[in-house]
Amino acid sequence: MSPKFECSFNTISLRRISSVQNKDNTGKISKFEPFSEMVKRRRSEASRSVLFFLSEKSSIEDLIECCNTHGKVNNCFEFYQNGYYAIIEFKKKESISSLRERIYKPDILQQFQNELIYHRLFKYDIKSNQVSISHRKKNYINKEPLNSDLIKAICHADSVSHQIEMLANEQALRDEGVRMRFLSCTLIEEACRTMFPDCQVLPFGSSVNNFGKRNCDVDMYLDLNVEPGMIPIIQNTNFKVVFDEESATNERFATQNTLRTLSKYLKKCVPHCTNVYNILHASCPLVKFRHQALGLSCDLTANNRGAIHSSEMLHIYSKFDKRVQPLVFLIRHWGRYHGLTNKSPGMWITNYPLTLLVVAFLQTRPVPILPKFLDLISTDSSFDDIDYSFPNVKGFLQEANETTLADLLHEFFVFCMKFEFHNRGLSVRHGSDFINNTNFPLFIENPLVDNLNCCKNVTKTLVAKLKSSAAEALWVMDKAAFLNTTPWGIALLFLTPKKIDKIMKEQASGPYHEQVERVLDLFPKS
Ligand code: GTP
Ligand code: MG
Repeated sequence: MSPKFECSFNTISLRRISSVQNKDNTGKISKFEPFSEMVKRRRSEASRSVLFFLSEKSSIEDLIECCNTHGKVNNCFEFYQNGYYAIIEFKKKESISSLRERIYKPDILQQFQNELIYHRLFKYDIKSNQVSISHRKKNYINKEPLNSDLIKAICHADSVSHQIEMLANEQALRDEGVRMRFLSCTLIEEACRTMFPDCQVLPFGSSVNNFGKRNCDVDMYLDLNVEPGMIPIIQNTNFKVVFDEESATNERFATQNTLRTLSKYLKKCVPHCTNVYNILHASCPLVKFRHQALGLSCDLTANNRGAIHSSEMLHIYSKFDKRVQPLVFLIRHWGRYHGLTNKSPGMWITNYPLTLLVVAFLQTRPVPILPKFLDLISTDSSFDDIDYSFPNVKGFLQEANETTLADLLHEFFVFCMKFEFHNRGLSVRHGSDFINNTNFPLFIENPLVDNLNCCKNVTKTLVAKLKSSAAEALWVMDKAAFLNTTPWGIALLFLTPKKIDKIMKEQASGPYHEQVERVLDLFPKS
């Protein structure tokens, strides 16, 4: 059997050879896998997985055969991106040690045992049937589809709602992307265990909340599992954990010290970790680095348990209704295209509050599509008691609102235009809006902490831009030409005003910006 590489946008391809599906005790595929179980399953898969760079695309069957001599192979994923790759998931972790023994002579293994443990990137050469450590410089790069390719693709859809679903499908993190991210956390965890034997490194943010794009960063949370105040120090070549009384009284100080030492360790001792630098004075101190072999940008944080909880919350909402994920993807892409969000820190809305804005919009429909966060947790703020019985959340009529994705998108833009952000804030926790009597031009409450604004950085100018971009979108969507131009539908939301002007010339009565001004005038000023 010769493997087939399916291509999508020529950037990535994936063929799943076999898989373990998420089954319950009766063998049926379960409807919803709770976040904690998903994380447990993914961590277990990652601890038994290695990444191979293949010399030729046709070598996969031989590679599986070769790996099978070291233990049963549970799963194999092959994909193309800047080269042919395969993730091999063994049934047992011990098979990885057996594979390393094949590569290294026993004395080398003995001498470098600690460092070799981090080697999970191998090279397989079909001609010699040899496995070796890959020192390849050009590594896996997780590219996201180009806007122009996305536009072409979604024009093949048969409705606007279908276009929105297609856009999300094309952008969303694939299974192999999730595996790579969990694999990176496992490798960093193994490294950190030199100092903190009981620590865990867990992914959070878009790698796990179902809103991640193919090239999204890996947000890592280091759970030390020790008394606050324990910090690692470097003594000659050894790393030692000590109890620092000063740090014990100041958790932030302890976190900064721990991260500082870990960054030195990543730089010096952990293979494939490059571009390591500290951002320790941020509100959430972190170490940024690039995992070269896996092609991932990573943010390592500690003492940040809340971020795991907010990821779990978004994970629940993403699964609650099938319209949530496509709508969030569309709004995130739209926000990025129109300069409302940005990767670098500044006055922009970040993806997290933008997602909360969409969730709050869905909660505040006359017939709500999502329940308030307080209805998902039975005791205030406790994640130990999440009600996973949904879609049967108490008193919440799921699917009572049957609005199509296309209509929801239109409603969202109207919502952005009408909502008086300077007077009112939005709370996902309570599923409602509230009086904003602060000076913040945008107040989106952090669902985990009452009354804490996660948009403190956002300026009045940016809120005005949100409104004018929504006005542009409405103007485009309300034109008859929206459905019968080429490109058509939501593809028009990702074109420059000049291009839209050209496409809609016949329908427009006056230049594009004047048209949009007229739409803006219909709504309250912020
Ligand atoms: P990407 O842009 O795809 O990386 O989305 P993301 O959801 O991963 O966002 P980001 O990497 O900026 O943040 C990671 C996680 O940190 C989010 O999902 C939230 O859980 C949390 N987070 C980010 N920004 C804030 C904030 O302003 N306040 C709070 N409380 N948590 C935040
Ligand atoms: Mg992120």
